Amino acid sequence: MRTALVTGGTRGIGAAIAKALQDAGYKVAANYAGNDEAAARFSEETGIKSYKWSVADYDQCAKGVEAVEADFGPVDVLVNNAGITRDVMFHKMTPEDWQAVINVNLNGIFNMTHQVFAGMRERKFGRIVSISSINGQKGQMGQTNYSAAKAGEIGFTKALAQEAARFGVTVNAICPGYIATDMVMAVPEAVREKIVAQIPVGRLGEAPEIARSVLFLASDEAGFITGSTLTVNGGQYIV
Ligand code: CAA
Repeated sequence: MRTALVTGGTRGIGAAIAKALQDAGYKVAANYAGNDEAAARFSEETGIKSYKWSVADYDQCAKGVEAVEADFGPVDVLVNNAGITRDVMFHKMTPEDWQAVINVNLNGIFNMTHQVFAGMRERKFGRIVSISSINGQKGQMGQTNYSAAKAGEIGFTKALAQEAARFGVTVNAICPGYIATDMVMAVPEAVREKIVAQIPVGRLGEAPEIARSVLFLASDEAGFITGSTLTVNGGQYIV
């Protein structure tokens, strides 16, 4: 039985990923940073244990992964899903808005992947799946910070895939489009309507649609897929 760790795994896309992995027979740990109430509810409903730490902090990641591995054994599948937004036009963006998003969304994947990669390399098996975004591919007004971080995740994925390949470790990114989560629902309604009008499938995506993509890339059978970017966006941006 393989062990999977999902960051930002108690709400939104992360929760759907954690549940899908559990249903597929993985031992699953879900990390979260802030919302204790949502995490407690998630754990009670699913039986998936949740662990609190910030992916923006390297030492917290080291301790957190140690705790997960003490409970479940070595992490075979890491899903870098934790992410935040601080949407604001660039001319009004503060250094704090910039740094907060880079620290969680981009530095977070270094901080987390670094904890598990050596072990995966030694055991000759691993799956790193990072949840990037359509907005890392196309750029999005109001999101210079987020678009930069998400594009950075794609570059990280391509580079590490090459280092990891001969050790049986694959490294891939998924680029969701606009998915019906709290993050997208926080976008002003008038803007959201404009966004949905840009999606050929004619609706927002659903979190389980991203979860199924993660399952595919995480599987033992996906060993020949590495360094790839899987676009799941209803046709909104075709690369
Ligand atoms: N698509 C189309 N039009 C957009 C847009 C978008 N994503 N974002 C902004 N606009 C438009 C607005 O509708 C508005 O147009 P009009 O002048 O014709 O009304 C114009 O740009 C200016 O926007 P605001 O009046 O809202 O300007 P503001 O300064 O008050 O706020 C903003 C700017 C913070 C960027 C705000 O518009 C906003 O939050 N936009 C959404 C940005 C976005 O798409 N964020 C994605 C969040 S979800 C996510 O990040 C998950 C993921 O990976 C996809």
